[in-house]
Amino acid sequence: MDAPLIRAHSLSKHYPMGQTLVRALDGVDVDIPPRSFTVVMGPSGSGKSTLLHLIGGLDRPTSGLLEVNGQRLEALDENHLALFRRQTVGFIFQAFNLIQSMSALENVAFPMQFAGVASAERRRRALALLERVGLAERAHHRPNELSGGEQQRVAIARALVNDPLLILADEPTGNLDTASGAGIMQLLFELYRSGRTVLVVTHDPRMTRFATHRLFLLDGKIVSESEYQAAVMQPAL
Ligand SMILES: Nc1ncnc2c1ncn2[C@@H]1O[C@H](COP(=O)(O)OP(=O)(O)OP(=O)(O)O)[C@@H](O)[C@H]1O
Ligand SMILES: [Mg+2]
Repeated sequence: MDAPLIRAHSLSKHYPMGQTLVRALDGVDVDIPPRSFTVVMGPSGSGKSTLLHLIGGLDRPTSGLLEVNGQRLEALDENHLALFRRQTVGFIFQAFNLIQSMSALENVAFPMQFAGVASAERRRRALALLERVGLAERAHHRPNELSGGEQQRVAIARALVNDPLLILADEPTGNLDTASGAGIMQLLFELYRSGRTVLVVTHDPRMTRFATHRLFLLDGKIVSESEYQAAVMQPAL
């Protein structure tokens, strides 16, 4: 049995809002093994994005322990956290977050600048990644000249530039039709099969068929599948 790639213990993220405290995450314990494909499910506001942001080092916990790839994230300073993000994590967002004035190729090549990769090498690698997501012939299109599914594939290519161990995807199919969404999940599944660890937030129960592990969140807490089913099946008031 491999040691967990991600280990969270009593992990909490609280936001003081006036007189109240929003418990976005509230005492989460979770172990995620390397080379797994975990689907994170939960209603709106249950803490899914918060959990992903903490694991990806985009945000810091209020309390608790969080270890990713042997690094205690809560102990890292800003510089080391930035380094951790760049070396270990690839992020994919619901809204693609591409730069509109850049072509697909330039969007993918862009982050490599910060890793000090020479310009010709950046283009070569970016093109290879676009090929990998099936978009080589769209390399010179701008985001507004691509379909939603194609834009998300560009975003996936961009997330792979530093060959991250961990892929975090926050509702990557949320803005896509069913067929494009299935293509994106297939691509994430291939990344898992190639040895990466993938964590995907999704509202789509069909996506769970890809999962090796499933996490259910309710009100900032991890719950069992049966507790989750019981809660989400409640008729709306
Ligand atoms: N910066 C913030 N300040 C205050 N409260 C916040 C902040 N960010 C998130 N929250 C609250 O924390 C809770 C969890 O938010 P989070 O974004 O993790 O939910 P989610 O499960 O991703 O929801 P969705 O499915 O709608 O994306 C929500 O109630 C939200 O309002
Ligand atoms: Mg969210």
